[in-house]
Amino acid sequence: MTRARILGVGRYLPERRVTNFDLGKMFETSDEWIQQRTGIVERRFAEEGVYCSDLALEASRDALKNAGMKAEDVDFIIFATLSPDHHFPGSGCYLQAKMGLSGIGCMDIRNQCTGFLYGLAVADSFVRLGMYKRILVIGAEVHSSALNFTNEGRDVAVLFGDGAGAVIVGPSEDPSRGILSTHLHADGRYADILRLEIWDISKKPYITPETLEQGRIWPKMQGKEVFKMAVTKIPEVIEEALQANNLGIEDIDLFLPHQANLRINQFAAARLGVPEEKFYSNIQRYGNTTAGSIPIALSEVLEQGALREGNLIIMVAFGSGFTWAASVIRW
Ligand SMILES: CC(C)(COP(=O)(O)OP(=O)(O)OC[C@H]1O[C@@H](n2cnc3c(N)ncnc32)[C@H](O)[C@@H]1OP(=O)(O)O)[C@@H](O)C(=O)NCCC(=O)NCCS
Repeated sequence: MTRARILGVGRYLPERRVTNFDLGKMFETSDEWIQQRTGIVERRFAEEGVYCSDLALEASRDALKNAGMKAEDVDFIIFATLSPDHHFPGSGCYLQAKMGLSGIGCMDIRNQCTGFLYGLAVADSFVRLGMYKRILVIGAEVHSSALNFTNEGRDVAVLFGDGAGAVIVGPSEDPSRGILSTHLHADGRYADILRLEIWDISKKPYITPETLEQGRIWPKMQGKEVFKMAVTKIPEVIEEALQANNLGIEDIDLFLPHQANLRINQFAAARLGVPEEKFYSNIQRYGNTTAGSIPIALSEVLEQGALREGNLIIMVAFGSGFTWAASVIRW
C-alpha cells in the first residue's frame, strides 16, 4: 500500500500581540503567575470580523507555496477546529469557497487539541486507499472571541491564542518516508472537565437569556485534572507509538507536542527521559492554539532547517474530551 507523507506545511498567526501585561489590565493576574505556571509570555488575537476560516486560508496558501502547488491541486479538505465560523455548516465549507474549490469534499473534525492528529490520520488513510492525492489538513482557531476576560474566567483566558497551521498530505514516492502510524484515543467520561456548553441542544430553546446570565457562553476547565491526565497520557501514547514501530525513545530526532502548557511538556519529557530541547516549544509566543499548535510548530521547525529528510518525529497531543493521540513520521 502507498504510504502518505506531508508534502507542504504552512502557518498563519494574526498580527496583534497580546502580552501577559495586557491581560493584567483586564483582570487580576500577573506576568509572573502566567509564566511560572504555563510558560506563556504573549499570544496573538485576531481582529474583530476575522473568522477561523480566514486564518485557515492564509495558512493554506502558505502550505501550498511550501509544497509548490496551486489551490486547484487540492482534492479534499479536512478542517480541525473547536472555534468554527458558525455552529454549522463546517468551517471546511467556508474555507473551500474562499479557496475557489467548489465541488471537492470537505469535512470538519471536532476533537479540540487533538483535532489535527485525528485529521492527519483520516488524510493518511484516504491517501493510502488511493481515494485522494492532495489533501489539505488544517488546524485553526479563533479563541479570543470566546474567552471570559474577567477574574472569573482568568484561569482559561490566559492560556489560549489564535492561529492556524496547515499541511498537504499526498502519496510518498519513497516508501520509507511518510506517516508510519497514528494512535488515536479518547475517554468521554472526562468530557465535562474542559468544555464550552453553550450548545445545549437538550434545552428548548437551546440558548436563553439565562445562558448568558449564568456565563455558560464561556469555556470551563478543571485545570489540575487536565494537567494530571495530560502528563500521564502523553508519555503513554508516545510509548505505544514507539512500540508499534519497534523504535526506542532515542531513535526519535524531534518531538512536536501540542502546546497546552510548557510545564505539561516538561513533565512529559522528564518522564520519558527525553532532553527538553528535543521537545519543541513555542507556547511562549502563541499560547495554546489548540488544533493549530502542531502544524504551526512543524512549519516553524522546517523554516529553521531543524528537520532533515529521514529524521524521525513524533507529534503528540492531549486535550478536551479527553482526547489524545500520537503520530510517528519519517520525514
Ligand atoms: C490553569 C493552570 C495554569 C492553573 O494552575 P493551578 O496551579 O492549577 O492553579 P489553581 O487553579 O489551583 O489556582 C491557584 C490560584 O490562582 C488563581 N488564579 C487562577 N487563574 C489565575 C490567573 N490567570 N492569574 C492569577 N491567579 C489566577 C486561582 O483563583 C487560585 O486562587 P486561590 O488559591 O486564591 O483560590 C493549570 O491548572 C494548568 O495549566 N492546567 C492545564 C490546563 C491546560 O493545559 N488546558 C488546556 C488543555 S488542552
